[in-house]
Amino acid sequence: MEIIIERDYDAVCARACGYVKEAIEAKPALVLGLATGRTPLGLYEKMRGLKADWKKVRFFNLDELYGVGPEHPESFHRFLHENLLEHLKVERKNVMLFRGDVKDLEKAAQENEESIARVGGIDLQILGLGHNGHIAFNEPGSSLGSRTRPKTLTPETIAQYRKPGKEPASNHAITMGVGTIMEAKRLLMMVSGESKAAIVREFVEGPLTSEIPASVLQMHPRAVVVLDEPAASKLKRRDYYKWTFENKWRVGQK
Ligand code: F6R
Repeated sequence: MEIIIERDYDAVCARACGYVKEAIEAKPALVLGLATGRTPLGLYEKMRGLKADWKKVRFFNLDELYGVGPEHPESFHRFLHENLLEHLKVERKNVMLFRGDVKDLEKAAQENEESIARVGGIDLQILGLGHNGHIAFNEPGSSLGSRTRPKTLTPETIAQYRKPGKEPASNHAITMGVGTIMEAKRLLMMVSGESKAAIVREFVEGPLTSEIPASVLQMHPRAVVVLDEPAASKLKRRDYYKWTFENKWRVGQK
């Protein structure tokens, strides 16, 4: 797991956008996994401004609220369309987001796994981090081998996604599993803000445990975690991560 510490949120988004750009240049038919939430908003803004050819890029989503259709104001589908997809020249057939308003969730979950397999797996998966250590909607205690499935949300996650003054749109979600996420060829997690500093320290430097699903990133061969200074502020080896990043391109050079 590579840890990159940037000055602030804007620099986190610029760094993440650099990875996306490089990945599309290397593989125009990139399979890109998208996250919802507050954190990737700045990345999506930068992606909207990228001079890239999006025609062949295939898109998947990490999760969706159960019972919520793509037109619902709180749907993740809608979020991804409004903040990203409708601004890029993408091919409709390449947008393979699963829906939350399906009758048979188990079947939809299975179909999602099959669609990912059909395109040869996810090349680059964007991730955020929950305050309780969740990735996608794999809440604490989720099996580290789990696949796409329905999941009951914790009260804190429900509160996080609830619009002020409104009933929660759903208490359940359909989410890619931890095992599904771990099969992506590269993981790109973005984390910003001091409120996540404690959970960042736990998942990066603590033990691997299903109590903190994000800690599974320790096992991924190509996971990059891009943090701003406040989110990195509680890391014990913070200076070392900075030093290794600054020096990494000098390895093997005179
Ligand atoms: C959303 C998702 C969640 C969020 C996490 C952090 O698709 O997968 O795991 O990444 O809840 O959310 P923010 O970025 O709003 O702090």
